[in-house]
Amino acid sequence: MHLEMTLIDSAAQSARWVQKPFGNTRGFNPNWWVGSAKSPAVWCSVTDAAMGEVARAQVKTRSLVGVAYPTRRVPVGGATEIHLLEVREDLRRGCRGIGRAVVAMLEEAFPGPLLALSLDATSDGFWRRLGWNEHDHEDAAGRRAEGARPPANLFESVRS
Ligand SMILES: CC(C)(COP(=O)(O)OP(=O)(O)OC[C@H]1O[C@@H](n2cnc3c(N)ncnc32)[C@H](O)[C@@H]1OP(=O)(O)O)[C@@H](O)C(=O)NCCC(=O)NCCS
Repeated sequence: MHLEMTLIDSAAQSARWVQKPFGNTRGFNPNWWVGSAKSPAVWCSVTDAAMGEVARAQVKTRSLVGVAYPTRRVPVGGATEIHLLEVREDLRRGCRGIGRAVVAMLEEAFPGPLLALSLDATSDGFWRRLGWNEHDHEDAAGRRAEGARPPANLFESVRS
């Protein structure tokens, strides 16, 4: 397996809302990849010569997300947020480690530390497995006490 990442920066389009550069491809969630998104954003498409496109990511540069996570210091000017990350459905959780490899490529391509808001308990497991630092939302304890679902956990890469 030899992965290559192509970056497409929304800055090439001058509008506030820009078209995402993907089609509706089997194995990728169309709700994530088809349509428009708020600029600035950078899209990443990862390919392998034999398997074709294996993963996609949407990255927000200078994201200010995180002020509601008291254990995390939000850097002045914001941080790089992995907003969406998807490995093609048929290639997940195998022995290939594509998700881990793609995150390593993103860490090389963007200034760190990187952050990600976890989607759900399943995605929590992935970020934990990568060893990223986990931060609770300020309302998490209260929501758990009420038996309600807490807001997303924020994960931050260890590398800076
Ligand atoms: C989450 C996702 C990106 C992981 O991709 P992947 O290629 O299956 O992950 P990898 O095989 O590289 O896994 C890396 C490590 O995390 C572990 N892992 C992966 N998914 C996991 C999960 N849901 N729960 C617990 N551990 C998980 C793997 O076992 C592996 O551990 P190891 O390296 O110690 O053996 C992929 O499942 C996916 O696209 N999911 C749908 C979208 C999503 O949830 N995106 C994440 C947040 S935006």
